[in-house]
Amino acid sequence: MMVLLTRKEHFCASHRLYNPKFSDGQNLRIYGKCAYPNGHGHNYELDVTVAGEVDPETGMILDLKELSDIIKKEITDKVDHKHLNMDIDFLRDVIPTAENLAIVFWNILAPKIPKGKLYSLRVYETPTNYAEYRG
Ligand code: NI
Repeated sequence: MMVLLTRKEHFCASHRLYNPKFSDGQNLRIYGKCAYPNGHGHNYELDVTVAGEVDPETGMILDLKELSDIIKKEITDKVDHKHLNMDIDFLRDVIPTAENLAIVFWNILAPKIPKGKLYSLRVYETPTNYAEYRG
């Protein structure tokens, strides 16, 4: 019996949506206010969902505290209160949209999940906008 288990974490960070291949005018048309030169911040939320079998001995797929510690160590401790365009080595040359963050975070976390398999990763940029990646 496969069950999905989700841990939510959060972080605060700033970013700017801008592609250096485009002119300033094009960037403004594509990204709107998100292209303003000095960036802006978000209170991000990260939903990490693991799919797995329930261990009959423990009643759990994996220990959520352990999952939380992994997400913090690998992702949120590194990006919290940082500028995503400038401060993060694994985001260099990545336009830090929610979509791209979901892909990059997935690639970091997927091999670190100790039991079950990473099933989906959601990056909420606002309460109403999120990107979801399933590998
Ligand atoms: Ni933004």
